[in-house]
Amino acid sequence: MRKIVILTGAGISAESGIETFRAEDGLWAQHRVEDVATPEGFARDPELVVNFYNARRAQLSEVEPNAAHRALARLEAEHGGDVVVITQNVDDLHERGGSQTVMHMHGELKSALCASCDHRWAAPLKMHVGEACPSCAAPAARPDIVWFGEMPYDMDALFAHLSQADIFAAIGTSGNVYPAAGFVAEARRAGAHTLEFNLERSAVGNQFEEHRTGLASKTVTAWVEELLTQG
Ligand code: APR
Repeated sequence: MRKIVILTGAGISAESGIETFRAEDGLWAQHRVEDVATPEGFARDPELVVNFYNARRAQLSEVEPNAAHRALARLEAEHGGDVVVITQNVDDLHERGGSQTVMHMHGELKSALCASCDHRWAAPLKMHVGEACPSCAAPAARPDIVWFGEMPYDMDALFAHLSQADIFAAIGTSGNVYPAAGFVAEARRAGAHTLEFNLERSAVGNQFEEHRTGLASKTVTAWVEELLTQG
């Protein structure tokens, strides 16, 4: 059966009410990336960064998965072959939508990380600067988010999935941030059929064989229906 590898970005969570990054009113219009999403920003003003992620973590309880999240969970449950969701998103909507195999390459809001011993634990709703690590007791707790300049998680495993993909779909991502923006080239090298789901062409849109333009809640749902009926 065909292996389907799916990359998602902020656009898949937009209809759930979570703002994207690069829209006019997006997160990067309200906050300076260098202040809240870099190690230097965290060193300069840890309070600002911890509060930025506390606000985004608090929002999780106010939003629900949308039809696109649920469609991907249905695909994983009903498609005979492998379905892997690689997400750049740090929200938990894929899991709450029913997906079992989700790889958070940029980390996740619900996880905390010890900057000293790399221990991870379930993040409290509100994190505080200098919180002690439950494992090594160092006052080195930080949001378990991959900041700009840091290495995304599970890269070897991600590239292994891409090398085996028969179908690669990118949903709701602007193709501005690497290494995720380079995944379509990897998938094409593996001979995968590539599809982009977006409101418009992304920065790497020309590398996809197929485009499904429109709201992910509609286009992804229709695509999954098609895949499951055509077998
Ligand atoms: N349906 C489909 N696509 C959508 C929808 C929707 N309802 N709403 C928005 N989009 C598309 C936009 O057209 C855009 O191309 O989603 C994309 C969102 O792009 P970004 O805001 O750049 O988000 P993303 O691509 O996930 O950013 C990647 O950059 O800032 C870092 O770490 C952060 O993970 C993030 C990474």
